[in-house]
Amino acid sequence: MSTPNPSIATSKCILVTGATSGIGRALALKFKELPSKPQVIAVGRRQNRLDELAGQGLETVQLDVQRSAEQLKNDLGIIVERYPDLDTVVLNAGIQHQFDFTQPESVNLNKVAEELNINYTSVLTTVLALMPHFQKLAAQGRECFFVGISSGLSMVPAAWVPNYAATKAAVHSLLMALRAQLADSKIHVVEVMPPLVESELHDPYGTTEALSKTWMTLEEFTKLTLDGLLKGDDDVPVGMSAAVFQKFEAGKSQMAIHLMKNHKAGKSY
Ligand SMILES: NC(=O)c1ccc[n+]([C@@H]2O[C@H](COP(=O)([O-])OP(=O)(O)OC[C@H]3O[C@@H](n4cnc5c(N)ncnc54)[C@H](OP(=O)(O)O)[C@@H]3O)[C@@H](O)[C@H]2O)c1
Repeated sequence: MSTPNPSIATSKCILVTGATSGIGRALALKFKELPSKPQVIAVGRRQNRLDELAGQGLETVQLDVQRSAEQLKNDLGIIVERYPDLDTVVLNAGIQHQFDFTQPESVNLNKVAEELNINYTSVLTTVLALMPHFQKLAAQGRECFFVGISSGLSMVPAAWVPNYAATKAAVHSLLMALRAQLADSKIHVVEVMPPLVESELHDPYGTTEALSKTWMTLEEFTKLTLDGLLKGDDDVPVGMSAAVFQKFEAGKSQMAIHLMKNHKAGKSY
């Protein structure tokens, strides 16, 4: 009988950033129901939302991922001390801004930097902060998981949210490179690529009502995502993202792993 792929089905403790609404909230609540009965730590800024999740049996930590790298590393260190079984992190917190780069005076560069920081830099900082802990668990034979939430827009940009798409392309590349660096280890890198999904992401631009006519419901998205995660898939492109992934990205991650192996062996690419 073949061994099943390692998956979050064995996770003992799962931390979800951006768990106070949308995709993060829905996944966090579903993780709580997994047969392994993991501890689930919901992270976000809005305390009232965290309190509601605590009422449903989740652990909660109020945290702004936009803190300085040192502060974020320190905060995550405290979380690891409190939850030594933490073996899975879902890097989900994200924001989205619209920009028209043909109207430079309309582009607020502070918002550009904020979007890059929350969507990309804080993801990398979190990975780096948790790496030593995951390496310690892996040395004890435990499987660990970095689960990144990118987007279908990481593969084909939507030009009205150009910086957002660029941050997601960066996350996509980061996760492939990280997977290649961690190949053959017990630390696994999973990428979820959502399509347009029911959430609060688009509220600031007043487009939620229009988008709600075509988005995938959270219920369907959560089910499909959980199916992929529990199968142990490295890539979980959902809905429309699956077709785009097949057309442009299939095989790319394996190529990055191959490249890394050749590089280590001193071979040409
Ligand atoms: N919905 C879609 O159509 C779609 C499609 C593709 C990808 N995605 C990705 O899915 C992820 C989740 O988005 P969503 O659609 O579920 O949006 P959402 O409902 O707006 O949720 C975003 C979450 O991120 C958290 N967050 C934002 N800034 C934060 C900060 N500085 N520190 C800590 N937490 C912060 C928010 O919590 P607080 O405000 O409480 O901090 C909230 O819980 C994002 O990475 C998004 O890019 C979404």
